[in-house]
Amino acid sequence: MGTAGSLTGWHGEVRHAGAGDADGVAELAAELAQSFTFSPERFRMNYPALLAADGACLLLAVNGHEHLGYLLGFRHLTFYANGPVAWAEEIVVRGHSRGQGIGRALINAFEQWAATQGCALVALATRRAAPFYRALGYEESATYFRKVTSEVQHLP
Ligand SMILES: CC(C)(COP(=O)(O)OP(=O)(O)OC[C@H]1O[C@@H](n2cnc3c(N)ncnc32)[C@H](O)[C@@H]1OP(=O)(O)O)[C@@H](O)C(=O)NCCC(=O)NCCS
Repeated sequence: MGTAGSLTGWHGEVRHAGAGDADGVAELAAELAQSFTFSPERFRMNYPALLAADGACLLLAVNGHEHLGYLLGFRHLTFYANGPVAWAEEIVVRGHSRGQGIGRALINAFEQWAATQGCALVALATRRAAPFYRALGYEESATYFRKVTSEVQHLP
């Protein structure tokens, strides 16, 4: 992958995450968490499972050893699109590194990954970042509903 970001104002690259990136991703994931309290213990369990999961894509924006942002997305099969579609589930850029094109580089890399996976579209739900997605050419398409299951809500 290795999408360079130097042309867009930051110096670094976007690459797929590996086992050694767990700590950096955990810090960023804790920064993103809002609806649920971030659990370091759960993260330790889920991180290797996500890296190994078929159809999962964890992209990192890095500058050397510094983790500046990540995107977690998935490919899944559908009937309505006659095949796979890609969903970006989480994206976050470290607070002090925002506004330099890192989010754009992460989305661009995810779009490239989705295309190589034969996905018909890239979609996502957002509450806080609609202007960011509009700037990247995304169109509003549906309203997002959710119900938090009490079982998940009460996990430690
Ligand atoms: C949303 C987020 C990932 C954007 O990352 P970023 O690196 O700051 O974004 P970029 O610098 O790549 O911006 C890309 C474009 O989006 C625009 N943009 C980014 N954030 C914006 C905002 N809040 N309002 C308006 N435009 C915005 C930029 O102006 C830029 O447009 P341009 O290239 O035409 O100038 C980052 O702000 C973030 O991590 N926010 C907190 C977590 C969050 O809300 N995640 C999304 C959950 S769905």
